[in-house]
Amino acid sequence: MLRTIEVSGVRFRVADVGTGPAILFVHGFPLDHTMWAAQIDEFSKTHRVIAPDLRGFGGTDGTLYSVSMEQFADDLIGLLEALEVDRPVTFCGLSMGGYIGWQFALRHPEWLGRLILCDTRSAADSAEAAANRLKMADIVTKEGPEPVVWAMMPKLFAPFTAQRQPALTALVRQTVMTTSPTAIAAAHRGMAVRPDVTAMLSGIRVSTLVIVGEYDAISPPAEMKAFSAEIPDSRFVTIPDAGHMAPMENPVAVNAAIAEFLVN
Ligand code: MLT
Repeated sequence: MLRTIEVSGVRFRVADVGTGPAILFVHGFPLDHTMWAAQIDEFSKTHRVIAPDLRGFGGTDGTLYSVSMEQFADDLIGLLEALEVDRPVTFCGLSMGGYIGWQFALRHPEWLGRLILCDTRSAADSAEAAANRLKMADIVTKEGPEPVVWAMMPKLFAPFTAQRQPALTALVRQTVMTTSPTAIAAAHRGMAVRPDVTAMLSGIRVSTLVIVGEYDAISPPAEMKAFSAEIPDSRFVTIPDAGHMAPMENPVAVNAAIAEFLVN
C-alpha cells in the first residue's frame, strides 16, 4: 500500500506492504522507491516491507539546500516511528541508500537487526569528485535534471542492459527526468561531504550482506569486496548480468541472495 504520512513537517510517500519482520528498502540517487518493485513484490509475502521516497525525491517533499546522509538516516527513524514499525529492522540500501545505511548503523544501532548493502561505497568522494558534485548541483538547479541523466545513465547499467531490457532503462531515465532538481542538488551537496566510514566498519555488530552487480562501474566489485572484509559478520555476493542497478537488472539473483541471508 502506498501511503502519505507527515513526519516533522515533511510529507513522506512510502510503500508499506505486508506483515512480519520489517525490511526497510532505501533507494539510490536520484531515484525513488519504485526501483525496488521486484523486492517489494517478493518480500512483502513474508515481511513488512517499508520503501520510502527520501526527502525531496519521488512523492516526498521537504528538501533543503543540502541534505546530509545523517539527515536522511534520521528522517528514516522518524518515519519508522510514525509508522509504528517494530524494531529492529533489516536495512537494505542501494548506493546513496548504502551511504545512508552507514549513518543508520552508526547513529541508530538499536534500530538495526541486519544490514544489506547493494552497489555502494564506504569511502568518501575524492576532492575532484566532490567538486564535480557541487558544480552539478548548481547546473541542475538552473537547467533541470537532464544533465544528470546524461552524466549518470551510461554508468548505471551493465553494458548490455539497455539493449536487453530497454523498458527498464527507459523507466529509470523517466524517474530521473521527473525528479525535483532541488532534491538532486541537495543530495549531491550532501554526498559531497559524506564521511569516509571505512575505519568504522569493524564496529558493525550485525549480520551484513554485501551485494554487487558484476559490471558495477560506480561501486566496483573489488572495492566492495575489500570493505565487506572489514565487517566482522559479512558475506559478499556478486550478481551476474548486472551493473550498478543490480536489484532492477537481475532481481531474481538479488532476491535469492537476500532470501538466503534472511533465513541464515
Ligand atoms: C547512486 O546510485 O545512489 C549514486 O550513484 C550515488 C553516487 O552518486 O555516489
